[in-house]
Amino acid sequence: MEEHTSETADARVRAHARGSAISIHGVVKRFGEITAVNGLDLEVPAGVCFGLLGPNGAGKSTTMRMLTAQTLADEGRISVLGYELPRESKQSRLEMGVVPQLDNLDVELTCRQILTVFSRLYRVPRAERPAAVKRALELANLLPRADTIVKELSGGMRRRLLVARGLIHGPRLVLLDEPTVGLDPQVRQELWTLIDGLRASGVTVLMSTHYIEEAERLADTVAVMSSGRIIAQGTPADLVRAHAGEQVLEVYGPPERLAEVGALAAEKGWSSRRSGPAVAIMRAETLNGQAPEGVRRPANLEDAFVALTGEEIE
Ligand SMILES: Nc1ncnc2c1ncn2[C@@H]1O[C@H](COP(=O)(O)OP(=O)(O)OP(=O)(O)O)[C@@H](O)[C@H]1O
Ligand SMILES: [Mg+2]
Repeated sequence: MEEHTSETADARVRAHARGSAISIHGVVKRFGEITAVNGLDLEVPAGVCFGLLGPNGAGKSTTMRMLTAQTLADEGRISVLGYELPRESKQSRLEMGVVPQLDNLDVELTCRQILTVFSRLYRVPRAERPAAVKRALELANLLPRADTIVKELSGGMRRRLLVARGLIHGPRLVLLDEPTVGLDPQVRQELWTLIDGLRASGVTVLMSTHYIEEAERLADTVAVMSSGRIIAQGTPADLVRAHAGEQVLEVYGPPERLAEVGALAAEKGWSSRRSGPAVAIMRAETLNGQAPEGVRRPANLEDAFVALTGEEIE
C-alpha cells in the first residue's frame, strides 16, 4: 500500500464511517456549451445495488466516467471506496470493476487472453491468475468459449465477456453502464441473475439503465437522473407510491376518445399520459366516482419515471 497524507486518510475513514461506497457532492461537468452533469449529489451506501435511471443524455455515462476518473469533474467532490478523486483514482480503480456502455474489446484476442491481460493489469497475483480467469469465465457462462476470439462471439457473449472482465479481480464495487442494452431476453435474465448474485455476496453495484424493469427487479435504491442531476430517489416501491400513487386507470378507445379523456384529465388536474393505445391516469384510487370507464392496474416504476421526467421509455 502506498502512503497517504493524514488528511486523505481521514477522509477515507469518514466515508467508511458513513458506509458510503460512493460519495458525490456538487459535481458539475461541462462539455463546451453542454452541461452534462449539473450539481450532482449522490451517496451510494456500501453493499447495495443502486440503479441510476434516466433518459438519453441525462448524464448517466458521464457520471460513471467521472467515477473512474476517465473524465474529470469541473466542480465538486467525488470519493470512491474512501479514496478522493481524481488524486487517488489509481487506488480506487484497483478495487473496483467497470463494465462500460460501449464495447472496447480487442477483437483478435480470445476470451481467456483478454481476461488474463486484465488479471495482470488489476494486479491479481501471478499464481492466482488462471483460477481468477476460470472463475470469471464461469460467472459469465463463457467457459465453453474460453478460447474463441472476440470477433467470433455473438453480441450477447461479448457483453458477458465485458462483465467477466470487470469482475476478474474480485472488486468490492462494480459500475455497470447499461449492462443489458441490446441483449435478448434470455441473456438479459442471465445477467440479472449474475448481478443479483454479486449484490448477495456483498459487492456494491452501481448500475445505469433505461430499462425500467431492470431497475425495478435489481435495485435496492433507484435515483432518477434528468438533465444532469438527481430529481428523485428511493426504493422502487417508494418512488411509485410518491409519484404515481397506487393505481393507474387506462382508458382505451379511438383517437377522439383519447383526446377527450386527455382534456378531461387536464381540466380536473389529474396527472395523465399517453401510454401506447391508451390514456393512463395516475392515482386512480383518488378519482372516486368521476373516473371514465377503463382498466385499473397497479402503478409501476415506469409510471413514476414518466411522471418525473416527462419522457416515455422505448
Ligand atoms: N465527450 C463528450 N463530448 C461532448 N459532449 C458529451 C461528451 N460526453 C457526453 N456528452 C454530452 O453530455 C450529455 C450527457 O451524456 P451521457 O452520455 O452522460 O448521457 P447518458 O445519460 O449516459 O445517456 P444514454 O442513456 O443515451 O447513454 C449529452 O448531452 C451528451 O451529448
Ligand atoms: Mg449512457
